Amino acid sequence: MENLVLYRKYRPQTFSDVVGQEYVIKTITGAIKNNDFAHAYLFSGPRGTGKTTLARLLAKSLNCENRKNGEYAPCEKCVSCSEISKGVSVDIIEIDAASHRGIDEIRQLKENIRFVPTRGKFKVYIIDEVHMLTKEAFNALLKTLEEPPTHAIFIMATTELKKVIPTIISRSQKFEFRKLTRGEIANRLRLLMTKEKKEIDSAVLETISARAGGSIRDAESMLGQIMSLPEINIENTKNLLGFADFSEIAQFIRFLVDSDKKNAFAFISEGVSKGYDSEDFIKNILNYLRFVMYLKVDEQLSEIILREMSPEEFEDLKEIAAKFELPRLEKAFRLFLDASANIKYSPIAELPAELAVFRLFEN
Ligand SMILES: Nc1ncnc2c1ncn2[C@@H]1O[C@H](COP(=O)(O)OP(=O)(O)OP(=O)(O)O)[C@@H](O)[C@H]1O
Ligand SMILES: [Mg+2]
Ligand SMILES: [Zn+2]
Repeated sequence: MENLVLYRKYRPQTFSDVVGQEYVIKTITGAIKNNDFAHAYLFSGPRGTGKTTLARLLAKSLNCENRKNGEYAPCEKCVSCSEISKGVSVDIIEIDAASHRGIDEIRQLKENIRFVPTRGKFKVYIIDEVHMLTKEAFNALLKTLEEPPTHAIFIMATTELKKVIPTIISRSQKFEFRKLTRGEIANRLRLLMTKEKKEIDSAVLETISARAGGSIRDAESMLGQIMSLPEINIENTKNLLGFADFSEIAQFIRFLVDSDKKNAFAFISEGVSKGYDSEDFIKNILNYLRFVMYLKVDEQLSEIILREMSPEEFEDLKEIAAKFELPRLEKAFRLFLDASANIKYSPIAELPAELAVFRLFEN
């Protein structure tokens, strides 16, 4: 239950609460200040990075009753602001294209859009996962986008920009959201724990942040799960999140580099008894090899790596990369990619990883 609570409870209500996305925020707040905003926006980027959050904030600013010219921040006091914060404003219409594929919703939208907003100055349509709309819904939406009434604003969001048809893209102002770094996510989790008056070991928060894949929502939802544990420590955390961390993976990769067959096999079978998911395991190996490759290509790529790894983990990686010979690295990539492709069909979950190790040591 608590995991629902966290990320709903702490959805940022002001621009300054939003982590990262500096460029998006700067451009949008500038446009609001100068009263020079677009009528169609397209927010694209990974899940849980602030697209819906910023769409609602934009709507809140534009409809705020007390906001003066030259300001961008919503007042948080007027009826419009408080309705939007509570999610009960009738002028904000949220359509989830993923669950309905949109035909009825877009049809309804076309019928209702000409009526002026009830309270605020604007009717704001937030269309989530817009790439999922059916062709018919897309076409209907396009017609509306061509000549929207002055009181209508569209904010379309997608996690898959490539699937959005070009005509929609060309009619919108486009913003790309980025994944949040491990450090940004950890800070955010620390802030939430302060607000919740809970103390959680920093290592636990770091571990969650590393697992979140750049998504704050995923991190907050994992944190919620962790908080419901009777005892919170790093061991429990790793068990609950169900996969090995960089330092463990580093150990395994070291066995590969050192041609330590016995320990490589033992590592896999211990992983199984600890309940690691084999698919995650292979994915983590590939991810680690990826970082080894980065270091081989150019030391400056370490910047990217350090977004996900702690400095100590990075030291391990450097040491491993120095020992990893290129032909062997390439062979390892090929074999573990095969393993990942085969895992769905394997009657024994750990077999594909074992086979990859076996073949790596073959001459
Ligand atoms: N940049 C961010 N700063 C602070 N909190 C964030 C940020 N991004 C996401 N969150 C947290 O995650 C929750 C969900 O974020 P949001 O709905 O904006 O994600 P989204 O990008 O729209 O994701 P999806 O593509 O899955 O719809 C927010 O309520 C908030 O708690
Ligand atoms: Mg969203
Ligand atoms: Zn207001």
